[in-house]
Amino acid sequence: MSRIIEIENRYSPGCYSMRDIAIVRGEGAIVWDENGERYIDCVAGFGVANIGHANPYVIKAINEQANKLITCPSVFYNDKRAELMKKLDDITPENINRFFFCNSGTEADEGALKFVRLATGKTEFIAANRSFHGRTFGALSATWAEKFRKPFMPLVPGFYHVPYNNIEAIAEKINEKTAGVIVEIVQGEGGIHIGNKDYFLSLRKICDEKGLILIFDEIQTGFGRTGKMFAYQHHNVYPDILCIAKSIAGGIPMGVVCFGEKIGEIPRGAHGSTFGGNPLVCAAALAAIKYIEDFNLPEKADELGKYFIQRLKEINSKLIREVRGLGLLIGIELKKRSFEYVRKLLNHKILANPAGPTVLRLMPPLVIKKDQIDEVVEKVEKVLKEDG
Ligand SMILES: Cc1ncc(COP(=O)(O)O)c(C=O)c1O
Repeated sequence: MSRIIEIENRYSPGCYSMRDIAIVRGEGAIVWDENGERYIDCVAGFGVANIGHANPYVIKAINEQANKLITCPSVFYNDKRAELMKKLDDITPENINRFFFCNSGTEADEGALKFVRLATGKTEFIAANRSFHGRTFGALSATWAEKFRKPFMPLVPGFYHVPYNNIEAIAEKINEKTAGVIVEIVQGEGGIHIGNKDYFLSLRKICDEKGLILIFDEIQTGFGRTGKMFAYQHHNVYPDILCIAKSIAGGIPMGVVCFGEKIGEIPRGAHGSTFGGNPLVCAAALAAIKYIEDFNLPEKADELGKYFIQRLKEINSKLIREVRGLGLLIGIELKKRSFEYVRKLLNHKILANPAGPTVLRLMPPLVIKKDQIDEVVEKVEKVLKEDG
């Protein structure tokens, strides 16, 4: 066993399902292990590396910013933070014009839930079955799966889960205490389930009629992943709060709660973050967004995603129940547990991840090349054929 693996095994917290490789370098959609073995990365840091590893824009931006100013709390104004706020205002819906910076997806959802409580004075939320919103107490309360929730009961009260893509189920759950609804446009962790247009249109309507705040969690689907800058653009339905994180800053940790008039200003001292919106991460985010725009990554994800899905659908294996996805957020629903195939693919030098118990998730950097996709398809076919 390598020294790296030995040390990590000894000191790690134990909560991760470790894969037996030590990754030491990356470029584009490729990573290398400590022995120089090459892997195609269809995990992309759980959806962080949309613009690819070692992205030149981000490298340059963080080098320059590190030489100027790394930290600057949000009580002081800062040039990079101001620039990023302006940019986010440009790329988010018109009704959104305020941005709270934090450091992860769960913090973005946590902030959103707190802001909704502040704005409405109400305490209940509706979320969807199979949803994933994070692991801090508020976000975990909005998350559906028993395996994440059960060890930490009691959670925050007032969260109700109803079937996804089912507007009647939401309508039935609304009462005078309901503050808002939180939902993903494509459920990632829950198994790559795609929300439909009518669902989102009706959801917008019902939230307007009942005075509820609509939160879209685009932590996994944002920044080109599904073939649009944000996945709500597939449906032209706008949220009151948009939560983003993961790929926003090219790999440097950042989460953002994006909101507008329906929430209004957050009272002084009611929320905050030490690291949130520091100049280093803001410079990285500006560079990452510029790269996404300069190289039309949403369009690329759309084209490559269609190609990838088509090629996967052509695989003739009895183990496949369904191939589905949007852009480069792709799931292969298997008749067996997916983790076994994650391990098998690793032996064939492909990094993949499960999404729920039976779905194999392929979520490469959006800069992946067509011949690399061909290589992944070939290896997926191989491991599935080995087993029928
Ligand atoms: C939709 C969604 N929301 C929230 C989160 C939590 O993000 P983080 O792990 O950065 O806290 C994730 C992470 O996978 C996610 O996919």
